[in-house]
Amino acid sequence: MDLLLLEKTLLGLFLATIVAIVVSKLRGKRFRLPPGPLPVPVFGNWLQVGDDLNHRNLTDLAKKFGDIFLLRMGQRNLVVVSSPELAKEVLHTQGVEFGSRTRNVVFDIFTGKGQDMVFTVYGEHWRKMRRIMTVPFFTNKVVQQYRTGWEFEAASVVEDVKKNPEAATNGIVLRRRLQLLMYNNMYRIMFDRRFDSEDDPLFVKLKALNGERSRLAQSFEYNYGDFIPILRPFLRGYLKICKEVKERRLQLFKDYFVDERKKLASTKSMSNEGLKCAIDHILDAQQKGEINDDNVLYIVENINVAAIETTLWSIEWAIAELVNHPEIQRKLRIELDTVLGPAHQITEPDIQNLPYLQAVIKETLRLRMAIPLLVPHMNLHDAKLGGYDIPAESKILVNAWWLANNPANWKNPEEYRPERFLEEESKVEANGNDFRYLPFGVGRRSCPGIILALPILGITVGRLVQNFELLPPPGQSKIDTTEKGGQFSLHILKHSTIVAKPRSF
Ligand code: HEM
Repeated sequence: MDLLLLEKTLLGLFLATIVAIVVSKLRGKRFRLPPGPLPVPVFGNWLQVGDDLNHRNLTDLAKKFGDIFLLRMGQRNLVVVSSPELAKEVLHTQGVEFGSRTRNVVFDIFTGKGQDMVFTVYGEHWRKMRRIMTVPFFTNKVVQQYRTGWEFEAASVVEDVKKNPEAATNGIVLRRRLQLLMYNNMYRIMFDRRFDSEDDPLFVKLKALNGERSRLAQSFEYNYGDFIPILRPFLRGYLKICKEVKERRLQLFKDYFVDERKKLASTKSMSNEGLKCAIDHILDAQQKGEINDDNVLYIVENINVAAIETTLWSIEWAIAELVNHPEIQRKLRIELDTVLGPAHQITEPDIQNLPYLQAVIKETLRLRMAIPLLVPHMNLHDAKLGGYDIPAESKILVNAWWLANNPANWKNPEEYRPERFLEEESKVEANGNDFRYLPFGVGRRSCPGIILALPILGITVGRLVQNFELLPPPGQSKIDTTEKGGQFSLHILKHSTIVAKPRSF
């Protein structure tokens, strides 16, 4: 590091300390802030709580400080909410006040400072983007239009796995093939396209860039520069990589998918609504001047992350739990065999007749919530919550994982037991009808993709269990289910090897 930069940094730190002390004195007088550890100037609580603010560490802090607490992370206020009542306040009663999104230095790069939908502040732009995305993505008509495609993709996974002799003996990393399935499920909707194999060069490129985007965005390693602006110069290298990944990714979306579809539209008549894929609707909105070229690309960016990864992680968790709980897997297979019979492979309309399958999916989303802290919310203006003052532009995390795993509210929550959703919790749905269980959030910023995610999960998990006995690899009695939490994500740390023994009908 050059000396001039160090000198400037130290001087800056000194000035920031003075400003922070003055501001905190003034603020302290005005505000009744939520409880939390005592902050020190400049760094706030960052040195005490560290970088890894995953759902479990935040749960530990909630046990200490209560259902609402405040962490000062450098310059940023972070409010964590851990009770169903306060979650209702944030997501429902005061849904407008807390309906914005925080951004950070890295998400600012990947979303062009909120030109997308998922990370944009609550307001006109968000409303327009959500409206424009609803018809092409989030209706039952879309499910009906694409469900045979999803069934085809699940059948082709079954076929490929059956063809691979390793699968039935030493096992395979099933997740790799399921990743292709999820890309195909979503790229059919977006662009009316699919990739033939895991080796398709375009799929390989996409997968690598999306993976890199996620890793860079969900990592905790850039916190210091985000929390403490004066340290930002040290983040230059990291942010440069983010910018490069972002540019390459958006260029790939544009050159290989959006422009391709534009070309096709100019040569073919697109008047038949039934043949339109999502991007055609989005491009219509762009041609009408409702959104610009960049917004189109950011919609593609959002779907690549919000839809593909979350659903893939959930499928992977479901398989891991079924492998580690053979009796549950057996029970699910018996339901599938009994309701559908040996000759019929599960399709989307069957799911409603398969309560145990639905319970398996719900239990997976409860214990292994893909977005355990929801996507961070924010209040644009000063607000009140739980009797406390919340300064404007605080990041609000709803610890949805703890709401669904708190023994005060659930019977033996650490146990993977789908039966709970058929017994004592039979009225609880994934759509947020109970504030203890919010795998998709609830209210204005809730996940619109739930309408697609649930049938895709049902079809995929159902077909796998119908066709294979899923087991740990030889010599292992269980697979490793260590978690990896991110800024607000949760996935399995190791992509396990799974033995898939074909069943004979
Ligand atoms: C199992 C799969 C999925 C899970 C667990 C999940 C979960 C979530 C959660 C927790 C949120 C944030 C809610 C909040 O902040 O209050 C969210 C937002 C969102 N999800 Fe999903 N999601 C899944 C699949 C999908 C799919 C398939 C799509 C699209 C096709 C999608 C699109 C979105 C979008 C666009 C938002 C942002 C909504 C907004 O900010 O207004 N998600 N999702």
